[in-house]
Amino acid sequence: MTDRTPFPATGRSWDDLQAEIRSRSAGDLAWKDGRSPVFVFRNDEETYNVGRDAFFECFSENALGRTRAFFGIASMEKDVLDFGLGLFSAPDGAAGAFTSGGSESIFIAMKAARDAFRARTGKGREAALNMVVPITVHPAFDKAANAMDIEMRRAPLREDKRVDVAAMADLIDENTMTLVGSAPCFPHGVIDPIDELSALALKAGTWLHVDACVGGWIAPFFTRNGRPTPDFDFRFEGVRSLSADLHKFGFCPKPASTVFYRRAEDLDRATFRADAWPSGAFATQTLAGTRPGGAVAGAWAVLNFLGEDGYRDAARRLAEMVDGYVAGITAIEGLEMWAKPDVSIINYGSTGLNILAVAERMYDMGWLPGLTKAPRGMHAMLSMIHGGQAQQDYLRDLRVCVEEVRKDPMQASKLEAVY
Ligand SMILES: Cc1ncc(COP(=O)(O)O)c(C=O)c1O
Repeated sequence: MTDRTPFPATGRSWDDLQAEIRSRSAGDLAWKDGRSPVFVFRNDEETYNVGRDAFFECFSENALGRTRAFFGIASMEKDVLDFGLGLFSAPDGAAGAFTSGGSESIFIAMKAARDAFRARTGKGREAALNMVVPITVHPAFDKAANAMDIEMRRAPLREDKRVDVAAMADLIDENTMTLVGSAPCFPHGVIDPIDELSALALKAGTWLHVDACVGGWIAPFFTRNGRPTPDFDFRFEGVRSLSADLHKFGFCPKPASTVFYRRAEDLDRATFRADAWPSGAFATQTLAGTRPGGAVAGAWAVLNFLGEDGYRDAARRLAEMVDGYVAGITAIEGLEMWAKPDVSIINYGSTGLNILAVAERMYDMGWLPGLTKAPRGMHAMLSMIHGGQAQQDYLRDLRVCVEEVRKDPMQASKLEAVY
């Protein structure tokens, strides 16, 4: 017997379906109370409502058809991309694309990097290409490498958890199609030394991609508030492409990300074109064909709703919250930060007790613990959903869990790090 759900024999009312959707989700993690350290991002209720309402204004429009049918979507998408080009100090001639998420932005940039490598070197499929990356890059790069048959070469980190640029240099050879740095990396929340990576890329003649999926749309506002985060964008000559997610710290509705290229010719390389079928020319700058028009309208509305003032205010509140978490965590005897957060990701652990046993107890208290495996640690990507009462509750429960584990500090745990 399989447990396959049979196709519904008859239709059902919306009231009935809505009730069932709600009951099916009733057992979900209490993410609205800040219990999930990943997956959901929030500025405030108003921003959320603007994003949602704008999304539903263009619920049916298809961004695939933006140049032939949905001109409103095309013009809003242009605005969003222009905002990003400005924010990331892109030079004249730079270009971008609106995608459905960080993984897609990364994938498509890697395709452009591969094609640029082939154009520059004249090498074809016979050359076994590689990317040289920090060990901390997101698995989206492994996914792209796996699909395009590219070898991943991973460089270790410095003491401060930023990549060791000399180690990256040692891994480069004549078939290195790109270098990568993160702003910030997901595991430890620090921004790689993009200035040094840029210099290395220029010297080696390779592409450099900056993965600013997490920090892109918010880190510049930390800096503008007088709380400097390391620069990571097109100001550095060697940066050839950059990914930045709107649906993370742009506080826009999912699915929405952006990818930018220093040169328009690279957007052209990212573009897929086909004309072999009976329906004629087809071209996309993304992996997706059909794309939700709502995501474009939602991003456009949120960016305009908040404006620079709104993002600076969000960055200020986020910074205060991150500082509060760091102070609260380090005040607990036995815990230490594994890195000093550059933006809003925290990662901490302990040399004196098994942090995974602490995490297990947090889980039992209704928290989904974010984890790292090297070094063993707890982890959270904080947005305003984690502030206020959620922050107080988290720190209180963490204190209780650490107290308990301290009775038998190296006790075993069944937990393993999972994204
Ligand atoms: C640094 C970084 N890059 C890329 C991604 C992938 O983004 P997405 O989940 O939108 O595909 C993430 C996701 O958390 C990330 O943290």
